[in-house]
Amino acid sequence: MKVLVTDHVFEDLERERSILEPLGCELVLAPGTEEAQLVDAVGDADAMLVCYAKITAPVVEAAAQAGCRVISRYGIGYDNIDVRAATTSGLLVTYVPDYCIDEVADHALALLLALARGVHPAALAVREGEWAVPHGTVHRLRGARLALIGAGAIGRAVIERARAFAIDVVAFDPYVDEWTLEAERAETLANAVAEADFISLHTPLTDETRHIIDAESIALMRRAPVLVNTARGPLVDMDAAAAALADGRLGGVALDVTEVEPPPPDHPLRRHSRAILTPHMGFYSVEAQAELQRRAAEEVARALRGEPPGRPVNPEVLAPKAS
Ligand SMILES: NC(=O)c1ccc[n+]([C@@H]2O[C@H](COP(=O)([O-])OP(=O)(O)OC[C@H]3O[C@@H](n4cnc5c(N)ncnc54)[C@H](O)[C@@H]3O)[C@@H](O)[C@H]2O)c1
Repeated sequence: MKVLVTDHVFEDLERERSILEPLGCELVLAPGTEEAQLVDAVGDADAMLVCYAKITAPVVEAAAQAGCRVISRYGIGYDNIDVRAATTSGLLVTYVPDYCIDEVADHALALLLALARGVHPAALAVREGEWAVPHGTVHRLRGARLALIGAGAIGRAVIERARAFAIDVVAFDPYVDEWTLEAERAETLANAVAEADFISLHTPLTDETRHIIDAESIALMRRAPVLVNTARGPLVDMDAAAAALADGRLGGVALDVTEVEPPPPDHPLRRHSRAILTPHMGFYSVEAQAELQRRAAEEVARALRGEPPGRPVNPEVLAPKAS
């Protein structure tokens, strides 16, 4: 059997091999992630392991025709997979929704603190030979206001951490039914961001959340907040964020994810002293990555053995068909 790995960000695929080779599987890495390359490569695949490659409807259809049994996503978000097309083709999609909640929440706080405490600009200044307290630029964290956009698993883990710093949290998430969170509920995005000192994004990428931070929403922010995005790059219009940072409407910008990854080498956010870009590493710790590789490969193994999936994205494909 052939398991097509469309792309990955790991040192090697030994974990996957140790789980899948005993089942008689060969792991094959796709020659590239262009649609045509994937359509071609998936033509004889029994299963797919997918990191960031775009799995469009034509790729899904070619996979289904080849008798592929599962598209296993390495990760939490599955916005790069046309799940609707997969469901139409009866093709199972799985994901690993909870392997790095602590890591991403820790990363969001690390970015927030590096800008709120002025650590990043101060360290850059020291590197340039300066040695001066950055007067007027650092405010007390206790009682400051953090707006969270999205209060799912990672958002909640951020609330827990922010409370340890005595930061007041307001959260906007219209899809939470029962509000039991230790955070004020904002009914609108505008209410959440208007008086925020920090804003941290934790929603999936959807048509509704694409560019949720743009010139228009930045205009609602009155306190020149620090913006942190560890969710998905296209949530933030990076040019609007760069312009707002340059003219002081944002106090800092920290992005672990960018609209295009990697971002253009000449993008102004790569150079501004109050901007931090990290290379989509929020998920990463040695332990989280090991768990991710193992659990994604186990989903493939289960599908190939005809067993029910652990974490299906589209469980409806498993329902017995009405005759
Ligand atoms: N940087 C990284 O390495 C990394 C790693 C893992 C996950 N992520 C990303 O983090 C994000 C959050 O992950 P999670 O595990 O907390 O997901 P989750 O599904 O548990 O939570 C997402 C929350 O967003 C809310 N939401 C959806 N649409 C919204 C909207 N329009 N406005 C406000 N809230 C909305 C949902 O109701 C839900 O509560 C995802 O985008 C995921 O892809 C990034």
